[in-house]
This record gives sequence, C-alpha cells and structure tokens, in this order.
Amino acid sequence: MSSSRSLRSAAKALVAATLAAAGPCDIYAADGAPCVAAHSTTRALYNSFNSALYQLTRNSDGATTDIFPLTTGGVANAAAHDSFCNGATCLFSIIYDQSGRGNHLTRAPPGGAASGPNPGGYDDIAAPLGAPVTLNGNKAYGVFVSPGTGYRNNEASGTATGDEPQGMYAVIDGTHYNDGCCFDYGNAETSSHDTGNGHMEAISFGNIDVWGSGSGDGPWIMADLENGLFTGENVKYNGNDPTITDRFVTAVVKGEPSHWAIRGGNATSGDLSTFYDGVRPDANGYNPMSKEGAIILGIGGDNSIGAQGTFYEGVMTSGYPSDSADDLVQANVVAAGYAIGALSTGDKPSVGSSVTVRATTPGYTNRFLAHNGSVVNTQILTSSSSSADRAAGTWIVRSGLANDQCFSFESSDTPGSFIRHSGFKLLLNANDGSKLFHEDATFCTQPGLNGQGSSVRSWSYPARYFRHYYNVGYAASQGGPNDFDNAASYANDVSWIVSNSF
Ligand SMILES: *[C@@H]1O[C@H](CO)[C@@H](O)[C@H](O)[C@H]1NC(C)=O
Ligand SMILES: *[C@@H]1O[C@H](CO)[C@@H](O)[C@H](O)[C@H]1NC(C)=O
Repeated sequence: MSSSRSLRSAAKALVAATLAAAGPCDIYAADGAPCVAAHSTTRALYNSFNSALYQLTRNSDGATTDIFPLTTGGVANAAAHDSFCNGATCLFSIIYDQSGRGNHLTRAPPGGAASGPNPGGYDDIAAPLGAPVTLNGNKAYGVFVSPGTGYRNNEASGTATGDEPQGMYAVIDGTHYNDGCCFDYGNAETSSHDTGNGHMEAISFGNIDVWGSGSGDGPWIMADLENGLFTGENVKYNGNDPTITDRFVTAVVKGEPSHWAIRGGNATSGDLSTFYDGVRPDANGYNPMSKEGAIILGIGGDNSIGAQGTFYEGVMTSGYPSDSADDLVQANVVAAGYAIGALSTGDKPSVGSSVTVRATTPGYTNRFLAHNGSVVNTQILTSSSSSADRAAGTWIVRSGLANDQCFSFESSDTPGSFIRHSGFKLLLNANDGSKLFHEDATFCTQPGLNGQGSSVRSWSYPARYFRHYYNVGYAASQGGPNDFDNAASYANDVSWIVSNSF
C-alpha cells in the first residue's frame, strides 16, 4: 500500500469518526447547507451546543425557567424540568433556536384560517407530559400538539425566501396524527395568512387526503406548499409515498429551483428511503416558489389548527442538503436512541377493577365522580347510598382505548359507555368505535397535584385533567381560557382518591 493511499484512508476514517460524533447541524454545516433554525426539546443538535433548549412556564404561578442539556451536545435535563413542575402543570413556552440566529418558536398568533382559544386569538402551547421519551435511557419530553396548539416565528432570519434552496428534517411520532389541517414544521408565510401557492415549504404529517395522498390509508409524510399537501409532482397521489407505521419517524422535505424531494424512515433503525425526488408540481405558483421564511410548528401557514402530532426535533437549512448528509443525520438520530417514556406514573389503577374516584378539595371530600345520564358530575355518596346511586359512581378500569399505557373508565351501570371529553366537558357516551372517541376517552394517571391520590390527565389534551367545578366534571387546564380552567383551587380540584369503596 502506498503511503499516500494509507493517508487518504486515514483521512477518510477521521472524517467518519468526526461525523459520528457530530450533531445533525454539524453534519449539514459540513455539507455546505448549514442549519438556520434548529429546534428540539429533547437534545442538542450541535455537538458544541450547551445553551437553553427550551423555556417552561409553570401555570400555578406563571414562573418560567430555561432547561439546558445535561452535558454539552447532550440530552435535556429532565430532572431540572421535573423538579420545577412538581405539583403544578407546565407548558413549553419557548422552543429555542440552537442555530444562533434567534429563530425561537413561541405561541402562534391568530391567522387567516383560525384564531386560537387564548386571549388575542393566540394558539395553545404544548404540555410536556404528553410526550415522554428516553434517549439512550435519559428521560426527555417532546412537543405533543393537540388541535388548537401551535408555535410560530414570523420574523425569522436566514431562512429560505423566494425560490432559495432549503432542507428540513423532523423526528415525529408516527402514531399521533389525524385528518385535520395541518401538522407542519417548516417554512411558511410571515403574515399568518394564505398568500398563495408556493408561499410555504414545510414538512406535513397526517392522514388528511383532501389534497395529496400516498399508498394505503395514511398517515403520510407530505409537503405543505400552500393550498396543497403534496406527495409528488401532481397533488393527488404518489403510490411511492408509503403509509407510515413507525412509532418514531424521521421525515425529510427539501427543495431547490425546479426540484424537490420527500424522504423518510424509522427514526430508531435503518436508513432513509426516498419517496419522491423530482420536478416541482405543475400547477401555477409552485415553480418558482415564493417562500416567505417564517417558521411554523403544529399548524398550517394560515394558522389552521385542526391537526395533531408530536415533534421531538427538527431543523431548517440554508442550501439544499445532499442525500448523503440526510443519511448521516438519520444515523445520528438512530444513535440518539429514542424510546417511549412512561405516560402514566404514580399509583396506577388495575385494569379490570371497579373503582370509586373521590374529590380531595377541602369541603368536598364526600363527593365522588359519578354520572347522571350523559353528564359526568360529582355526587355525595356513601356505603349506604342506594345501589343505583353507588353504581352511577362506580367505574370499571379498562386499558386506554387509544393508548395502553393509559386508561379508560367504563360506566358500571351503562356497559359500553365511557367517560370522554367533548368541548372539554366530561361526558358519559357510548363507545362508537371511532379513533376520535377512543382518543377522547383515554386518560393517563400521575401523582395528585396536591400531593394526595392521583391526577387523571387527558391523553389527547395533556394539559387538561379531570376536574370538578361547581360539582360538574371537566377536562380543565390550569389557568386556561374557560371559566372551569380557573387557577384557584386547581391542584385540589384535579386530585382524586381512587379506591374501591365509598
Ligand atoms: C422501527 O425500528 C424499531 C427498532 O429496530 C423496530 O422495533 C420497529 O419494528 C421498526 N418499525 C417498523 C414499522 O418496522
Ligand atoms: C339527574 O338529573 C335530573 C334532571 O336534571 C334530576 O332531576 C335528578 O335529580 C338528577 N339526579 C341526581 C342523582 O343527581
């Protein structure tokens, strides 16, 4: 072997070793397509990043804190997070940009399609407890987007505008989706209004099929290019864009003049596949593109807020990354070791058992969660109440209809009917077998916020807990926009003694 040849292979090995230690944004920088936005609540996306990953707001008192990586380039400090949120509910109020450009994501303002439920028409922000994960065994939290939740930055700097090239990837939960518009991450309008075809270029995930679709029933990785979720050249159908069934998904969308691509893969193993790589859609406005450079997460460009999904990490680049850079990023994501975390904690009720659920609010401790017809309320019950009244306050614990880490509560006097939330009221309704019913009827448990018993949280709206308010049952958030979200007495009103007697 010649000495120059062994030098070359040594240099190659060094580059490979350096990139193995590199974060996703180090890889894209080496490829000539540097990150201009990098968002993650789980980990650093540069190997030298040691600033704050996100800001939490605690709803009991409005206090905020920043959460940093445990080590430079490492996973978020979940212990600091948990200690700050103990006994209260917390939300992700800022998802910091790691690129150094200040392209942070905060609560999205109202837009052309919809206003959020909060003062000023702002969207909801996400409850970390909805998306617990571990990365190589270290606990962290992802961004669980319920319908109504959205983040945005309409003044981003350095992101692609016009027909400039860009790349994006995101790691998402392939099992958390719906057919609403639109669970997006990426480039959008700076006005929060639909300003026309080609004014967006964002990753989109879900099984909405009014625009494009792929093979099977979905969900699919698509591209929101405005006025259409695209899977390929023509808006309607690309049989090479598969239905995704992975729990953790890596989704890639990238575009440059006259050309764009969709790629995807299992974020816990294997390589990326290319689902589309070709010309721009042939409808007016998509070639050339008119990207505006704002950044959205969880919503459409016009603030459509009907979709749900979970985001763990993602970036936007300046320049069109090579497929080999995407492949190295995928290897880095796989090496990060994503796995599911515990959705229910504390004392868990046993599946199949019959339970009673007693209030702990001082002055109301003789009241139990019960129902009167379809209304879920609290009623004063004792061991000498009539058997019909006791049955109205007795619940059979079932494995969660939408997630088996959580629970569903079947009425003992109305078999087949479950507690579900609708309009954030708790109702007793017959299980209609739909995905929406299953999700509305799934609740996760955790230690009671006031230190007693358990608190019971909606799986689909994890900021919302079983609460009694004027003796009626709600799925209430701490200090949220509805009267029943009133912060006064919240921790007591959402803490319940789950037992098997009155
Ligand atoms: C994704 O990868 C994980 C880890 O290897 C594996 O357990 C899972 O089955 C894969 N998902 C699919 C849909 O193949
Ligand atoms: C149930 O509701 C009906 C109609 O509002 C009311 O008359 C009745 O007293 C209620 N029963 C209980 C146990 O609350």
